[in-house]
Amino acid sequence: MAADAPIVIKFAHVVADDTPKGKGALLLKKLVEERMAGKIKVEVYPNSTLVGDAEEMQALFDNKVQLLAPSMSKFAPYTKKLQLFDLPFLFDDAEALQRFQKREAARELLRSMAAHGVYGLAYWNNGLKQLSATTALRKPIDASGLAFRIQPSPVLESQFAAVGAKPVVLPFAKVYESLKGGVVQGAENPWSNILSQNMHSVQPYITESNHGVLDYMLITNNDFWLSMPFAVRSELEGIILEVTQAVNREAAAVNRRDRERILASGSSQLITLTPEERQAWREQMLPVWKTYEAEIGADLIRAAMTVNR
Ligand code: LMR
Repeated sequence: MAADAPIVIKFAHVVADDTPKGKGALLLKKLVEERMAGKIKVEVYPNSTLVGDAEEMQALFDNKVQLLAPSMSKFAPYTKKLQLFDLPFLFDDAEALQRFQKREAARELLRSMAAHGVYGLAYWNNGLKQLSATTALRKPIDASGLAFRIQPSPVLESQFAAVGAKPVVLPFAKVYESLKGGVVQGAENPWSNILSQNMHSVQPYITESNHGVLDYMLITNNDFWLSMPFAVRSELEGIILEVTQAVNREAAAVNRRDRERILASGSSQLITLTPEERQAWREQMLPVWKTYEAEIGADLIRAAMTVNR
């Protein structure tokens, strides 16, 4: 490679371009092209085209990719602390999550995988998760006996076990075909992921449960990051801050838009829960917190709870 060739940063992710994360990745590429041409080149690989969610961390360790933004649910092998974000009904809404991310406790979590050489750069939000299924889910008992696709997270496994459902870990790229083929009958996703993977076409019922968050950490490989000259790194970090603000400002609007598109498609019936019905799901799932309190840390859970109003 010529001495003055730009440093290539491969940014792989598993979702579509027109989602909060997909848009963030493309904005990052665009701003780097505009401001750091010749120094840095960002290549974006969406939709698991370079690596899927089961291989992406290894690819980061092997320096085959340099940027990822996996959901918090995929970090359990590297730290137990980030399981915090999977606790059902922890954050009242997306704004509460955003408030938490600005707190010291959350800033410290960006370093929670340092022992594995993972450097956390930022939090990127998607949205609140909704339950979808082949049958109507109004009460927790309605989920009993159904198989739900989950991300590889022990907390999410416990969450579905708490309502008598069968959690099945599947990579994101397999969700649509597994729902369509009947391997699983249900799933939990924010509106943007339901729409962009066409899941609504095979899920006739969507319960607006808002029972958890789908949130990402933008991460890099520590050795790779430190191998870049300080000035280059600083400029890149400035761009990342700008992109992070844009992603987190627009994530809710993208999800609102996609919710409307799904409803307009007429493919799925929306189930709106009364406060009492939502409370029933909450009560059934809340014991999960106790199971993971020691691993996550009671202080951290308390710190997160203070952001709800
Ligand atoms: C999932 O696997 O459901 C999500 O983590 C996908 C994503 O990156 O939004």
